[in-house]
Amino acid sequence: MEQPFEVDQIVQRYAIPLNSNILHSYHELQDINIDREFIYVLLESFENLNDFAPAQYERFSLQTIVDYIRRTHRYYLSKKLLEIEQSIGILLKNYDGNHPLLSVLDRFYSNYKKDLIEHIKAEEVHVLPYIDMLLKSEHEKTLPLDSTHQSKNFSLKSFVDNHHDTEEDLSNVRNTILQYQPPVTNETPYRILLTQLHVFERDLAVHALIEDHVLIPRALALEEKLTEAKTR
Ligand SMILES: [Fe+2]
Ligand SMILES: [Fe+2]
Repeated sequence: MEQPFEVDQIVQRYAIPLNSNILHSYHELQDINIDREFIYVLLESFENLNDFAPAQYERFSLQTIVDYIRRTHRYYLSKKLLEIEQSIGILLKNYDGNHPLLSVLDRFYSNYKKDLIEHIKAEEVHVLPYIDMLLKSEHEKTLPLDSTHQSKNFSLKSFVDNHHDTEEDLSNVRNTILQYQPPVTNETPYRILLTQLHVFERDLAVHALIEDHVLIPRALALEEKLTEAKTR
């Protein structure tokens, strides 16, 4: 039985062999210590993007969520961007040097990719280590809001206000590409690239929903709990 496409996409983050059927690969998931239910819930989010339900994630630990976010960042940087780049390379081979699509795709590289990398870096450098610290604090029952973090002036609340996710920019790129009809010889790479961009857009959208509606609210609640403990 072939497994749904989204399952492959999710599984790649957890480095399970791609040919394994996740619906039956219970032992493999246990080996890497991932809750199979978590994969099911993710799958549902991927399939029903418009009905994203943060409550479905309540039963999973904040560590599980943080781990998913980190793995997804790694997956985007080491896999998704490269796949898309390869497709663009194949597509461009068949266009002559003045084709307007070339400059569209060129801008995609210089702008979109740069922005995404910066976006991820900011989360990896500021947000996730701060949440790690909160979790450690909770675990060790120490007080979290020490001078180190206060001096850095990091605040989860200001992160939320400035968090702009990037799938819309990607969708602009895709819509621009759609305006150019490919030569007959180029139809397949053209279609592959558009599909890859579309899949990546959805992935980024789920990622942003999890960050905004699961990760950050959970981290804020923990921050509050620890702050109360401090002032008590
Ligand atoms: Fe992120
Ligand atoms: Fe983000």
